[in-house]
Amino acid sequence: TRYFAIVPAAGSGSRMGAEQPKQYLALCGKPLLWHAIAALAAVPRIAKVFVVLSPEDEWWESFDWSTFGTRLQVLRVGGATRAQSVSNGLSAVAGQVAAEDWMLVHDAARACLSVAQVDALIDTLAEDPVGGLLAVPVADTLKRADGAARVAATVARDGLWQAQTPQMFRHALLSRALAACPGVTDEAGAIEALGLAPRLVAADATNFKVTYPQDLALAAQILHARST
Ligand code: CTP
Ligand code: MG
Repeated sequence: TRYFAIVPAAGSGSRMGAEQPKQYLALCGKPLLWHAIAALAAVPRIAKVFVVLSPEDEWWESFDWSTFGTRLQVLRVGGATRAQSVSNGLSAVAGQVAAEDWMLVHDAARACLSVAQVDALIDTLAEDPVGGLLAVPVADTLKRADGAARVAATVARDGLWQAQTPQMFRHALLSRALAACPGVTDEAGAIEALGLAPRLVAADATNFKVTYPQDLALAAQILHARST
């Protein structure tokens, strides 16, 4: 059994509101996407990192990816949704990945992923019958709103986790799950729809998804602190 990573990077970054898609915004001198790939490529057990771009992507070529060599392969098969991009990517690599190989699906926008977190995920799930994902227990008190921004109820946070990526499932199972359930917002959601229970692997909040402009400064701070 081998391990592969697949990084969906075919989004437009609409909430970021920048001119280019957020995966190409500069973070500590490199595009955001570079950091996400770097954390995965630095794990020797991961045989290869596939990155899924939009067929219309006109930004990729303007950056230098040579440091990753043949450990990185570009797939210009992105779709209309994240799930579709991942699904298309899984199909595109079917010739070089076996049914039982593990796929680690990781958002390009989670630029602060650490090698330690990837190792923890793989170590925990290597013998798992289902697979699973990095996640963090919810820390804040949660409110359910009525239609007018008033609190309708406080939601008990016991047992609630925030899903992150990487999410790690075997190639055949994940392909089948996403084909059956294309409306999901993460891989685990599609696996759950098959009646299976993905394992939650405790991560931390530094692996957050860069979504809004104010997230860039925090991401830079996290990466900077790690490099000193
Ligand atoms: N993604 C993708 N294909 C899509 C949509 C999203 O590969 N059709 C990727 C994004 O590039 C990102 C990850 O999925 O790495 C998580 O998505 P998100 O954070 O929502 O990014 P965007 O969809 O680009 O941002 P927004 O929702 O603000 O437009
Ligand atoms: Mg999106």
